[in-house]
Amino acid sequence: MAVIKAAILGFGTVGQGIYHILNEKREALREKLGVELEVAKILVRDTSNERIPGTQHLLTDNIDEVFAEKGMQVVFEAIVNEEPAFSYLKQAIENKCHVVTANKVMFAKRGLELQTLAKQNGVFVGYEATVAGGVPVIKTLKNILLVNDVSCIQGILNGTTNYMLTKMRKEGWSFEEALLEAQRLGYAEADPYNDISGQDAFKKLMVLSDLAFGEQPAWAEVEVIGVDTISAEDVKVATEQGMRYRHVAEVERQADGKIVGKVAPMLVDREHPLFPIDDVFNAVAIDTNYIGTLTVTGPGAGMYPTASVMVEDYAEIIGKRAGFVVTI
Ligand code: NDP
Ligand code: HSE
Repeated sequence: MAVIKAAILGFGTVGQGIYHILNEKREALREKLGVELEVAKILVRDTSNERIPGTQHLLTDNIDEVFAEKGMQVVFEAIVNEEPAFSYLKQAIENKCHVVTANKVMFAKRGLELQTLAKQNGVFVGYEATVAGGVPVIKTLKNILLVNDVSCIQGILNGTTNYMLTKMRKEGWSFEEALLEAQRLGYAEADPYNDISGQDAFKKLMVLSDLAFGEQPAWAEVEVIGVDTISAEDVKVATEQGMRYRHVAEVERQADGKIVGKVAPMLVDREHPLFPIDDVFNAVAIDTNYIGTLTVTGPGAGMYPTASVMVEDYAEIIGKRAGFVVTI
């Protein structure tokens, strides 16, 4: 049986999740795809830190070692920030590797460039995990865009802050307590500023805009307000009034064709579809001309939800390459 070699760039919450799932689903993947996947290299900054027993010999802090590995065909990327992630994935694509990424900070800015480069090199880019963790919103959009026109996308795109707002409301936790727990659970970014300032939701919104509209609004024109503007007292008062805070990201095509976006906390009442979306869940409503409004919801962050959609991306890519559709 053919062996495909893979690298995992970044071995934190998401990278380790990928490794666990690839191991746990090894036989099922081999059977479905007709190939054996071998994780041959794992890129980190600090190779002395043992994460999963038995993986120490795979660790490297040198990207050149990843591409020097003979037979490398798939690169999973789960590091942070635009660089060096973009340069590594560019290098991977130029080396004819398929890439699967969770990095929305990089992908919001450089995603179209990577996808163009991938086409030129005959490889695929999977980026389901860049938006809404385990919620298959990218696949959902790809499945309807041939026929449907999207007019608006609105939703909760950050798991950390929805979790925080929920705990502040239900448990009476302070903002800081809720953030600490979201960090402990692996939901928050290494620098949680992106989560609480709204920048994380903004980047995800830009990835969705690229896919749905083929373009993004001018970044400087998008108002971005985070949950760091909401106190525990605000949450208490809203709850007493039967309302809930949600952090909502929205992008739409106006009648004049202009794409506009906004990211901000919103007070919703029990009639609003986002009212019951609690904990780490995200929800994305897509308005289209033929289907009407389509909503997808599920866990928006965390090790296994995120890693599982990345392994799904890998399976889809290998299926495409072999000319068949992977089904369960
Ligand atoms: P972590 O902070 O847990 O892990 C990041 C990993 O990347 C670490 O292993 C770190 O190495 C490595 N790393 C960072 N910078 C470099 C670099 N320059 N060179 C080599 N390795 C590097 O992050 P997460 O796993 O939570 O997130 C990873 C990516 O996935 C991010 O882009 C995030 O936005 C995205 N994401 C995260 C989700 C989540 O629920 N956590 C959900 C969806 C997307 P070392 O261990 O040595 O420090
Ligand atoms: N920090 C992000 C969140 C991870 O909480 O939504 C998922 O992209």
